[in-house]
Amino acid sequence: MPSLWLSALGLWLVCVSSVLSAKCPKQCVCDQIQLTVACVNKNLTEVPPTIDEITVKLDLRSNDIQELPTGAFRHSPYLTHLSLQRCNIRRVREGAFRGLGRLVLLNLANNNIEILYQESLDGLSSLKQLMLDRNRLEEIQPGAFSQLGFLNLLSLTHNQLVYMPNMVFQGLQNIKLLRLSHNSLNYLDTEAFAGLVTLTRLTLDNNELQFFPMIILTSFFCRLPEVTRLEMSHNPMTYLGEEAIAMPKLTHLFLDHMSLQDMSNSAVSKCPSLVHLDLSHNQLRVIQPFSPGTPSLARVNLAGNPVYCNCYLRPLREWAISSKVKLLGTCGGPAHLSGETIEGVYPSELRCQSHEAMLRAEYEEATRNTPPPTAEPENKFKCPANCVCQAEMHHSSCENRGLTKIPKGFDPTTRLLDLRGNHFHYLPSGSFPGVGQVVSLHLQRCKIVDIEEEAFSGMKGLVYLYLSENDLASISPGAFKGLPQLTYLYLEKNKFTVFPKAAFRLVPSLLALHLENNSISRLEPDLLTGVENLRSLYLTGNSIKHMAPRALEQATNLDTLHLGGNKLKDVPTEALRGLGSLRDLRLTGNPILWVGPNAFKPVERSLKELYLNKMGLERMSPDSLAGLGPGLRSFFLEGNLLEEVPDLRSFRSLEVINLADNPLMCDCPLLPLRIWIEKVNLKVRATCANPPEVKGRRVKDVHTFRACPGGESLPSRPTTTLQLSRTPKATKPKPPHLNRKRQVKMVKAKPKTNHKNQNSKSTKRR
Ligand SMILES: *[C@@H]1O[C@H](CO)[C@@H](O)[C@H](O)[C@H]1NC(C)=O
Ligand SMILES: *[C@@H]1O[C@H](CO)[C@@H](O)[C@H](O)[C@H]1NC(C)=O
Repeated sequence: MPSLWLSALGLWLVCVSSVLSAKCPKQCVCDQIQLTVACVNKNLTEVPPTIDEITVKLDLRSNDIQELPTGAFRHSPYLTHLSLQRCNIRRVREGAFRGLGRLVLLNLANNNIEILYQESLDGLSSLKQLMLDRNRLEEIQPGAFSQLGFLNLLSLTHNQLVYMPNMVFQGLQNIKLLRLSHNSLNYLDTEAFAGLVTLTRLTLDNNELQFFPMIILTSFFCRLPEVTRLEMSHNPMTYLGEEAIAMPKLTHLFLDHMSLQDMSNSAVSKCPSLVHLDLSHNQLRVIQPFSPGTPSLARVNLAGNPVYCNCYLRPLREWAISSKVKLLGTCGGPAHLSGETIEGVYPSELRCQSHEAMLRAEYEEATRNTPPPTAEPENKFKCPANCVCQAEMHHSSCENRGLTKIPKGFDPTTRLLDLRGNHFHYLPSGSFPGVGQVVSLHLQRCKIVDIEEEAFSGMKGLVYLYLSENDLASISPGAFKGLPQLTYLYLEKNKFTVFPKAAFRLVPSLLALHLENNSISRLEPDLLTGVENLRSLYLTGNSIKHMAPRALEQATNLDTLHLGGNKLKDVPTEALRGLGSLRDLRLTGNPILWVGPNAFKPVERSLKELYLNKMGLERMSPDSLAGLGPGLRSFFLEGNLLEEVPDLRSFRSLEVINLADNPLMCDCPLLPLRIWIEKVNLKVRATCANPPEVKGRRVKDVHTFRACPGGESLPSRPTTTLQLSRTPKATKPKPPHLNRKRQVKMVKAKPKTNHKNQNSKSTKRR
């Protein structure tokens, strides 16, 4: 019996394994029980086409799959785990993962992917973890993650991201952990993190952020409401301003190894849950007690700062004792306390001598402790005479030295070169020899009138070029030749009267171009040939009267166009053609009195923010905003002369609208607005100017609309009930991003209210 049974089993095994071997690609190892297939380190150039359909785990690590074509995995629809590390993947085609609706984990780390297309990750509707670390990502197209509604972890460390565009993480409704460490981020658009309402951990360390990203500022308080841990270490920031970080649930904040020289005592006062603050390894000498607002704070790490333990430190020490906050770190001076732990020094020992005595002591200490720089030959950082260089930061500065020639002899490893406030007048070709690693070059206020061809040649790593506040009226076409990485170019406050388009033909990487406050009067056709990647164009404060049709059409990725403070008399509709990615359009302060039908039609699909404020606008065609309804999020119409406003009923995505300071006529034609206000629960700031009996009242509080045909459904008394009626809704599982976004977004307040806010802030701050 047993032998019979055994042989039956044997027969079955033979059958099964023959089926298996038929289904198992020959370079792979297959486990039929676990339903896994592993083809590791096999030089495969494509996904093996014969993988068994029922496979759930597929491991393709260390192969040579250069490109993932559309539908690469369509034969294995049950996959839950897919490993594709070290596969030399350069390109992920649109729809490469289509059909993998059960995939939970996708690892694409250690490849050479440069771009994530909008549809590269389509179909991964169950994905929870996505690893894209150590690729060459420079660009993520907005919408790339829009289908990953279940993703918890997104890891993008060690890539080459410089810039995060608006809404790039849109659709990540369940994201908990987002890692962006070790990139080259210098700029985060104000809406870059919009919609990440479930995020609890964010890492931004080891980037190039010089300022605190706007998104974390107070006005964006609720952008990241659930974040408990924020890592910002190793970014070149020098100052933390008031309420720089405002995150209601933040408990751990890492600001170590930056270049902080000073911080406001209320920098973290909008982080009521903060427990641990790491400020170690900065340049802080004196620290004020923190303003109230951080009742949970238990530990502040100040190690590695040159903290000066004299009378100026006493308030901090006393505050720490009374608030039971542990201060880690040691005193950097004066001499007799140098090296003592901060907590080992009693407040009474923190004393100041007379000012001179103090300076003398400091001086003696400095000369005693810091050997002259030449004494460390192994770490010598070259620095021209009359300049100041910081070897550790790779910064070289000759700011405001009255120089008439660019100094020579900077250290070849210099990354930031600051030459602002000198008198160079013109930049001859090859002005910057031997500094090929400079990333950021500052030449503001240098009285520059002319830049010769190839003035910057050799600066292969230059990303930021600041030429603001000079006297440039033109630029020779080859001026920016040899700057393959130039991404941000600042030319505001110069003397341009025409758009210097020829000069931009040679800067293929340009993303942001600043030309504010010049005197450009016309925008001719084809301005942006050669800079097709441009995302942001700033032309505020010029004298532009005319824009040629399709003036900007080459920049199909243009996302931001600021045209405020010019002399346009019409919305430049024809010039918007071809700008199918435009999200932010500002026309503030142009003398546009009338907006005709379909004025924004060319950008109807993409536009998110529209500024038509302070223009003296008298009338808008009922169809002026045609097409914008579904997408527009912010709409600014304040400070005009409008008596009526177009029907806004189709504007379903609005988060901010400002209708203040318009002489609205509160009569039946305005009924659609009144009904719409009732529905949306947004702060609208619409006030009646007429008829006289309701002058100055908010449109929302005026009852006369009930008498209009169609107005019967309006409540008879002003509603404060909306607030209340929202509470029970909390039990209804509505996607959180829909609820939250609408709540806290600041509309520019009228001066009066603003004033009040400031008062209450400053009293709080003592
Ligand atoms: C993969 O290719 C490389 C170079 O062509 C070769 O040296 C290596 O032996 C190959 N490995 C396998 C497992 O075939
Ligand atoms: C342009 O000039 C105005 C008025 O002087 C100023 O408020 C604004 O900050 C300037 N903008 C830039 C980018 O220089």
